[in-house]
Amino acid sequence: MKLLHEDDRPHSTQLDLSQSAFFKLSLDLLCLRNTDGYFQELNDRWTSTLGWTIEELKSRPWIEFVHPDDLAYTEEMEALCSDSNSDTVIEYKNRYRSKNGSYRWLSWRVSVYENGVSYGIVQDVTENTWRGSGSYRTGVREAVKLRDRALAASSVGIVIADAKLPDMPLIYVNPAFERITGYSASEVLGYNCRFLQGKKTNRTQVDILRQAIDSGKHCTVILLNYRKDKTPFWNELTISPIYDENNILTHFIGVQSDVSDRVLTEKKLRLEKAKSEGLLLNILPRSIATKLKQNPGSIAEYFEDVTILFADIVGFTPLASRLQPLELVKILNQIFSKFDRLADKHGVEKIKTIGDAYMVAGGLPVPQENHAEAIADMALEMQAEIAEFRQTTGEDLQIRIGINTGSAIAGVIGIKKFIYDLWGDAVNIASRMESSGIAGQIQVSQSTRDRLQDRYQLEERGEIYVKGKGEMKTYWLKGKKSDVKTGLKSKG
Ligand SMILES: Cc1cc2nc3c(=O)[nH]c(=O)nc-3n(C[C@H](O)[C@H](O)[C@H](O)COP(=O)(O)O)c2cc1C
Repeated sequence: MKLLHEDDRPHSTQLDLSQSAFFKLSLDLLCLRNTDGYFQELNDRWTSTLGWTIEELKSRPWIEFVHPDDLAYTEEMEALCSDSNSDTVIEYKNRYRSKNGSYRWLSWRVSVYENGVSYGIVQDVTENTWRGSGSYRTGVREAVKLRDRALAASSVGIVIADAKLPDMPLIYVNPAFERITGYSASEVLGYNCRFLQGKKTNRTQVDILRQAIDSGKHCTVILLNYRKDKTPFWNELTISPIYDENNILTHFIGVQSDVSDRVLTEKKLRLEKAKSEGLLLNILPRSIATKLKQNPGSIAEYFEDVTILFADIVGFTPLASRLQPLELVKILNQIFSKFDRLADKHGVEKIKTIGDAYMVAGGLPVPQENHAEAIADMALEMQAEIAEFRQTTGEDLQIRIGINTGSAIAGVIGIKKFIYDLWGDAVNIASRMESSGIAGQIQVSQSTRDRLQDRYQLEERGEIYVKGKGEMKTYWLKGKKSDVKTGLKSKG
């Protein structure tokens, strides 16, 4: 380098124009230092390498930037520069502080001081020095050992499959994999991991895995796998792709956990929840149960147009005196269970049983157009059920049914033993239709008759007295018009 050539050394400490050009062009860090211990000239490489501005570097003795551990050695080497008899180039390495606080390894080639100035060519050799250093190699060895120990210590199974080989065989499994599956590494290396699957393995989860593998993506699935001893376990598996520096997919890493306990507990919980949900829906209509769950408290809703039916079993009291209570309840249960099925069939809401009476309503809690017809059909089929019961058991039972259509309030009140109930005039009138009726007949009010007259056979009964209402005209519901014409029974 021209700058260091003895003949060309400047006698002034200022750089002339041509020297300045070399200064700028050099890829090395160039400097002039004076005997006061300061930099006198520096090229811009210093700034790009260390982050300091030229002014910052010039403002302090250059030795202050040397790493404390390298100070003694640097001073020793620098002493050679002050030996004016020597014209050799002095070379050494030290760590030099950057502006961000880290140190760079610099390799110095400096001249002795002449005319109060020493010339220097300096190279940043950080990468070479670190990579080549013993501590770097030891660090890498330690890191590899640590990684192996971490993989071995992991409580989750870790496997690596080679994506470049046909059918993606396993090339690594850790001890946790061996513990979870019961297979030893030597038994499984070289095989695709699907050997863990069996008949009951969920195919949709396997499809998700296959799609992720085909598109080189990450995915997590929970699927049923089988240990070497054929016992099943739930495997929560995450696979992630590994790409090389050229962005080529080379491997997949799989992380496996045995989550059987969690899956089984969740399953049990779901079953329990379904059971209690079923019980709740046995007590309350779904929409009401949902409302109460979201907003506990009372519910009272007005319904403009509903049809209410009361049915009383006639002949039950004499039966009660003849049979054991348990047998009696069995009979009642048989009959009411049939009525419950009819309520489901006709889409009406069973409200409650009161002793040997049964109450059902149509048009709530979800309003329904044909509630009067649905209740009429149910009433006719209730009669048919009782007739069949009478025939099969020989017990002389009949039912007396009353029906009315009108407005009502429905809801759940109180804080214990919830029941979805109905209140209002229309309910009282329906009850009166039943109590003033006769066994084997269905008595309906005028309002119900108005809804049914087109499609049902009705006979006028006359007038009955209803408390709070006075005289009311009532009708007997005999059957459907088509049934009456063809002589069909209304059952089913
Ligand atoms: C790294 C890795 C780990 C895997 N681990 C399992 C596993 O533990 N259990 C399993 O049933 N499938 C596992 N598989 C999925 C199967 O090896 C296979 O890819 C999957 O069954 C879909 O391919 P196939 O349709 O050819 O069987 C893993 C896949 C990879 C890439």
